[in-house]
Amino acid sequence: MAKSSTSLVIFGANGDLSRRKLIPALLQLHCNDRLPDGFNIIGVSRTPFSDDEYRESMWESAVELVGVEASRKQFEEFSRRLFYEAGDLSSSEGLAGVDSRLADLEQSAEVANRMFYFSIAPGLYESAVASLDDAGIAHGNDGWSRLVIEKPFGTDRASATKLDSSIHAVFPEKDMFRIDHYLGKETVQNRMVLRFANSIFEPIWNRNYVKSVQITVAEEVDAASRAAYYDSSGLVRDMLQNHLLQILTIIAMEPPSAVDPESLRDRRVDVLRAIAEYSVEDIVGNAVAGTYEGYRSHDGVDSSSKTPTYAALKLQIDNWRWQGVSFYLRTGKALENKNIEGVVEFQRPPHFVFGGATGAREPESNILAICLQPDEGAHLRFQVKVPGRGMEMKSADMQFHYDSAFRDQVIPEAYERLLQDALDGDASLFIRSDQIAESWRIVDPLNAYWESDESDRPAEYSVGSTGPIQAVDLLTADGNVWLQGCGTHD
Ligand code: BG6
Repeated sequence: MAKSSTSLVIFGANGDLSRRKLIPALLQLHCNDRLPDGFNIIGVSRTPFSDDEYRESMWESAVELVGVEASRKQFEEFSRRLFYEAGDLSSSEGLAGVDSRLADLEQSAEVANRMFYFSIAPGLYESAVASLDDAGIAHGNDGWSRLVIEKPFGTDRASATKLDSSIHAVFPEKDMFRIDHYLGKETVQNRMVLRFANSIFEPIWNRNYVKSVQITVAEEVDAASRAAYYDSSGLVRDMLQNHLLQILTIIAMEPPSAVDPESLRDRRVDVLRAIAEYSVEDIVGNAVAGTYEGYRSHDGVDSSSKTPTYAALKLQIDNWRWQGVSFYLRTGKALENKNIEGVVEFQRPPHFVFGGATGAREPESNILAICLQPDEGAHLRFQVKVPGRGMEMKSADMQFHYDSAFRDQVIPEAYERLLQDALDGDASLFIRSDQIAESWRIVDPLNAYWESDESDRPAEYSVGSTGPIQAVDLLTADGNVWLQGCGTHD
């Protein structure tokens, strides 16, 4: 077999994502012996570092991270695959160093694979691809060439389509790996297992039994450390268009006929296609924007900013399975705690047979809560009889938790899985161009309205709260309440 090399070139290699996620994930893959033979990493950013300075600085970042178990010895072995070049993606000349480093590393390879990772400002993607092309480095000798690209991809549907067509001139769709790291989370994938490897849920996974589906991505962290990026991007582009809609597609998708990348991606995009576009009237009645107190005082945030740091909304999926079921989504920063979960709320029993019995009250809904973080697992809630008190009932949970069920196993970081899949050429957990377009179609009206003079300023909420009261009203209007199923741990 021809001798091959694989080079991963990370642009933005001195940034937070590289330090905290990418290099640690690659280190972990190295320790688990999951990187291909002939694999090297070239970190690129504008700051000058020697190879050794860069390695040392990555080691210092890695040891600070919880969950990075590598020893110094393992890191030193890994370091032999880690190189650094100062470079500038704004022109082909700025990539001369990268070009010669690639040539060095690929010297004895007959087949040279290249994977480029953009962890740079999204506004630079288009010109960066043009620079790679002009510098003649987008493709190696006889091997494959892939581009891995962080979200947000575009700022709306029109810009995403334009970006696609310019990138496709250099990297065809099959070589583009658009990342949404939520899809790499083990617990998100566990939802697919829960649905498609168990037969008990499928018969009830539809409008006949499901009353509502609620998706919560609550974060305790605020936006202060990335205020300038955050204020120009906003919560809708940062979280809603991608992470929340990904979770939604996995809960709502039809079973794929097989788990090949295209079948999976087809089923996910089908869900988004069935969501109608909001009109301004729909937004007023079905969506709430909020901003936490003090947000506008962060450095980098305009004092008149209308950027939401919280959003709650109601969606309908117009297909056979979900007609009439309300899907509620909420996400925000600076909330009381970190909690990511999806709750499927089932219909109440059609007839309450215990009416009139001592202590009996209308039962609460059964729920299945799929807990993504930090309480990784699932809770199935049902009614039980309280002993010795007539027919009084209360809710009890049947629980599954990763930390107790898989005691000796660490849950891998999302980026480990995604980097490995991209190296293997498996695009199942990456976002295809049509899915990007559909998700922008859904959220573009929200941005257009919330950024316009027509809309009021977002509702204020206190730091450390559960968000604006208007988000509660959104559900009350339907006779519903926000449900939290995760977070209690036996
Ligand atoms: C990122 C967003 O994509 O996801 C951040 O840009 C957010 O604003 C982060 O904090 C949340 O990721 P996780 O994995 O911590 O839930």
